Amino acid sequence: MVIAAFETTALTLNHALIILAMFPQYQELLFEELKEVFPAGEDFEVEHQDVQKLVYLDRILNEILRLFPAVPIIVKDATKDIRLSNGVFIPKGVILSIDIFNLHRNKDLWGHDADTFDPDRFLPDNVSQRHPYAFIPFSKGTGNCIGSLIVS
Ligand code: HEM
Repeated sequence: MVIAAFETTALTLNHALIILAMFPQYQELLFEELKEVFPAGEDFEVEHQDVQKLVYLDRILNEILRLFPAVPIIVKDATKDIRLSNGVFIPKGVILSIDIFNLHRNKDLWGHDADTFDPDRFLPDNVSQRHPYAFIPFSKGTGNCIGSLIVS
């Protein structure tokens, strides 16, 4: 739990600070959103509904998790025979690794500029046009990250 929760979150925050320093134009937009949602110059509690309003922060963090997934590769053990939707057969006992890092930079899924930082990739219209498994920083299905609801 400690390794799964702390290292991943610390790495992602570290990447976020570097990216925001590298791209002041996105940092400025994020700052504007934060000023809008949280009143300036006074103490305040951060409520769940406030966090829900931080849609630009969400896009920034998703784009950071796309380019720099804190867990870049995961390994699975096929406990039974599996036929994938593309016809590929995976026999029981095979150990699979899922390359999240390269999936997130696959040009067929993300376009020719897949290596470029662009939070607008996570605008709702753009998300709905992509395969739901094109972005899996927290894995998917059984055994996915229990922290993903807290983090995202
Ligand atoms: C940016 C932050 C995080 C990322 C990118 C992340 C990513 C992942 C990924 C990819 C897995 C699947 C691992 C696998 O299949 O081998 C996972 C599992 C897990 N994560 Fe996270 N995680 C994050 C934060 C957290 C937090 C905050 C917690 C706890 C509150 C947490 C708890 C767990 C646990 C317990 C598992 C194992 C689930 C299981 O095996 O059933 N993670 N995480």
